Amino acid sequence: MVNAVIMASGNGSNAIELIKLEKELDNINFKFIITDNKDAGIINKGKSLKKDVFLFENKNNKLEHEEKILNKLKSENIEWIFLAGYMRILSSDFINHFYDDDLDQAKIINIHPSLLPDFKGKDAYEQAFKAKVNNSGVSIHFVDAGIDTGKIITQKEFPLIKGESLENFKKRGLKLEHDLYPKVVKNIDKFIETKCKEDIYEI
Ligand code: GRF
Repeated sequence: MVNAVIMASGNGSNAIELIKLEKELDNINFKFIITDNKDAGIINKGKSLKKDVFLFENKNNKLEHEEKILNKLKSENIEWIFLAGYMRILSSDFINHFYDDDLDQAKIINIHPSLLPDFKGKDAYEQAFKAKVNNSGVSIHFVDAGIDTGKIITQKEFPLIKGESLENFKKRGLKLEHDLYPKVVKNIDKFIETKCKEDIYEI
């Protein structure tokens, strides 16, 4: 059993899906949740699922902020980090602490609501919607020092329906996210065994 943590800044719907999955997992233990936002919905949601949620607010000093989080993660022997709507860019120093030679990746995974490399960064659903794409999607990827540039693990497409609202488009995307992220976590051993060498995993 390896220790993992979920980091989230907002509503936390993806974080909750991962926690719900925990009872089916024999390889990953989500020890707690970390948030950087005192108003994050995940604080109460996490607690209602009996998960500790630790708040690390950023007082405008990124280095100190990351150091505090890092100390907590180290003291709890955390091996994997799952970002679920965590709204900060992690520094390469922070990421390197989780680098795994075998995987040739840091053990930090993120979910992003677009078909990367399209629409990186914030408000990706809005970006895709405004661009009137035919197909949008969800990507799950390893985290590197760039913004949504790490190695893609898997992606799922979904079409933009003609005439639908942004709200509806986002709702459908989020539903897909809730399906995909737990599946990736369930398959984590497969990625380790194959050293993550496959281009895109069909899961
Ligand atoms: C999701 O769309 C996720 O892909 C993005 O931020 C949103 C977080 O939603 N990175 P939630 O907090 O998990 O509900």
